[in-house]
Amino acid sequence: MKQPKVNIEEELIAKHWRQFISFLVLSIFGLTTTLGILILEPDLNAIFERKEIDTTKRTFTASGEVEDDKVVDGIHLATGMPYDERFPIVKATCTACHSAKLVTQNRATRDGWKQMIDWMQKTQGLWELGGNEPIILDYLAEYYAPKKVGRRASLEGVEWYILELE
Ligand code: HEC
Repeated sequence: MKQPKVNIEEELIAKHWRQFISFLVLSIFGLTTTLGILILEPDLNAIFERKEIDTTKRTFTASGEVEDDKVVDGIHLATGMPYDERFPIVKATCTACHSAKLVTQNRATRDGWKQMIDWMQKTQGLWELGGNEPIILDYLAEYYAPKKVGRRASLEGVEWYILELE
């Protein structure tokens, strides 16, 4: 009766191998997961808490959300405003407190824009613009000038516009 004894020994060896391989697979799995978490941690934080995202490249959009700075066909998508060399100053100044929508839905002459800035300085805490003021006024007067000769009188003159964002 040699045969059964050999079989039992072989089975024992096979069992130990299976245990060893299971242990190996589990260890590798555990190690990979730990390493993965360590490596991805900052990204995971950013995804789940949105804390580490670079806020300097962000701005209030017309809808009040934040988006990356992207310019397509000369239009800064997040604000819907024309992009030129004066735009960064305008954006830094005029989207600091409120949505760009407040700016873009208005139309005025250079004088009219000056009055709005004066009003914000007197009543809303807008700071002195110094040398930036003429730059901002030129920009606004160029792109947000009154469409027609007369100022709008009734609701019919309201400028509805389509947001270019999805
Ligand atoms: C210090 C904060 C601040 C800054 C900076 C600022 N604004 Fe304002 N602005 C306000 C507040 C507050 C209101 C009123 C918002 C409201 O009524 O909801 C306002 C309202 C406006 C309005 C609407 C006025 C109206 O007739 O209803 C326009 C247009 C406007 N801002 C343009 C600008 C422009 C252009 C700039 C850049 C030169 C600018 N804002 C920068 C605070 C600011």
